[in-house]
Amino acid sequence: MAIQEKINQLIQMRQQAALGGGEARIASQHAKGKLTARERIEVLLDEGSFEEIDMFVTHRSTNFDMDKQLYLGDGVITGHGTIDGRVVYVYSQDFTVFGGSLSETFALKICKVMDMAMKIGAPIIGINDSGGARIQEGVNSLAGYAEIFQRNIMASGVVPQISAIFGPCAGGAVYSPALTDVIIMSENSSYMFVTGPKVTKTVTGEDISINDLGGADVHTMKSGVAHFKAESEEEGLMLIRKMLEYLPNNNMEEPIQTTCNDPLDRRDDNLNEIIPENSNQPYEMKDVIWSIVDDHEFFEFQRHYAKNIITGFAKFNGVPTGIVANQPNYLAGVLDINASRKAARFVRFCDAFNVPILTLVDVPGFLPGSNQEHAGIITHGAKLMFAYGEATVPKVTVTLRKSYGGAHDVMSSKQLRGDVNYAWPTAEIAVMGAKGAIEVLEGKKIASLSPEEAAEFIQKREVEYVEKFANPYNAARFGYIDDIIEPRNTRFRVIRAFRTLTNKKDMNPPKKHGNIPL
Ligand code: HXC
Repeated sequence: MAIQEKINQLIQMRQQAALGGGEARIASQHAKGKLTARERIEVLLDEGSFEEIDMFVTHRSTNFDMDKQLYLGDGVITGHGTIDGRVVYVYSQDFTVFGGSLSETFALKICKVMDMAMKIGAPIIGINDSGGARIQEGVNSLAGYAEIFQRNIMASGVVPQISAIFGPCAGGAVYSPALTDVIIMSENSSYMFVTGPKVTKTVTGEDISINDLGGADVHTMKSGVAHFKAESEEEGLMLIRKMLEYLPNNNMEEPIQTTCNDPLDRRDDNLNEIIPENSNQPYEMKDVIWSIVDDHEFFEFQRHYAKNIITGFAKFNGVPTGIVANQPNYLAGVLDINASRKAARFVRFCDAFNVPILTLVDVPGFLPGSNQEHAGIITHGAKLMFAYGEATVPKVTVTLRKSYGGAHDVMSSKQLRGDVNYAWPTAEIAVMGAKGAIEVLEGKKIASLSPEEAAEFIQKREVEYVEKFANPYNAARFGYIDDIIEPRNTRFRVIRAFRTLTNKKDMNPPKKHGNIPL
């Protein structure tokens, strides 16, 4: 074959690979409002940066005449490219080839990019759109999944792993995304479940649609499995790019500091007024966050799940920072099981990737009741405690208002190695709220009084209690609070605290790993 013919053959094979399962299936993918695997990569990465690997791989199966159906690339597009100039590894499942189902070679391709990402210390982005295990390959496909799972586990906490779900993700296949740091689901076109509606109906009798069982709403609002819901695939891919602005390439690097044009000493007088006179009145914690962060820009994480706690990324003086904040506007900001799990995972995510953590506290305590107790709030609350206590990144805490009981300790208190703990003058730091405290301390006396006398007595004692205990000065007197700051100065004080902590070194004792209460 002449050289030109060889080159033509290469070009022709590349063109064939680019067509995946063929034009008809690409049209069908588009008709469903979905991008193809290649188009997704193009949208995700910096223009022209994608280098494909293993384009000529084909499967090895001979079952069911499979050897007569070979597609170059075998249903997954793998390679590397850049996002804002930083190298990332990517794989994108191609639904046009055997429904994006996973064969042995398909798995090997994914494993290869995962291994490369680990060697180089680069984020891994997986775009999922697949009918699951390739039925014709049987156990080889299951083994392929397990190879990926094992790599997900080894990469956890070493390089950021981000999963987009833009189509089916069912059966055991869900466990690869579940092992990664972040899951983004596209609205209306993606679903995740261990067991689909048909088997669910057979086994349990429950009649439920695909969407109600495992759609984006379910997983971003109810189960907490997914972290973001995107209205379109393009939006989902932009979320991935945005997310990486706050993360380093790997756990040995720091997140990248960018230039900050927002004045570091910008004051906000509104913050001096934001806490209502009546301490049982809610207010919007996000107003505080937006006020103090650089350029008022807050990238919220798990926005629709456990809204009583807020998690997300922002920058202070251009330094990516994780924020955890109780939300008085939702269930009074109480800590319940879901809030504890959500925040614990976020704290560990930040700590794994050297992202400092700001904690904004306004928490009335843990949610009481048999529902919570029987579902294990003890264990779940302990997760958050554990996460804060083991985190070695710089930790700054600001108590705005309530900080009661166990929840006070949990929310990045001084004793859980909070580095700098500030309080606003409106802070109430005590074992419990005035009402509960008076009932415990004066229960017998109250029972002996007439209802009118009791009401008057309770009110008087509550006022005394609030004056004595529900303020930040007791905690400050013992050094549990480093300073009481004027609310309007919060941005400046937080930035200065983090700046001081830049070279912080903290270590946990050597061990194989802790036994976090899972
Ligand atoms: C081989 C598959 C496939 C699979 C789909 N296809 N799933 N081929 N193995 N798992 C093929 C179809 O035969 C079809 O080929 C093409 O992909 C498109 O599929 P359609 O059914 O036409 O598409 P659609 O109507 O959109 O339905 C998509 C689907 C459905 C809901 C995903 O295909 C489906 O239910 N597939 C099976 C899903 C499943 O049960 N997988 C196993 C899960 S258990 P043609 O040639 O007609 O275009 C699992 C275990 C993992 O994955 C364990 C890990 C530990």
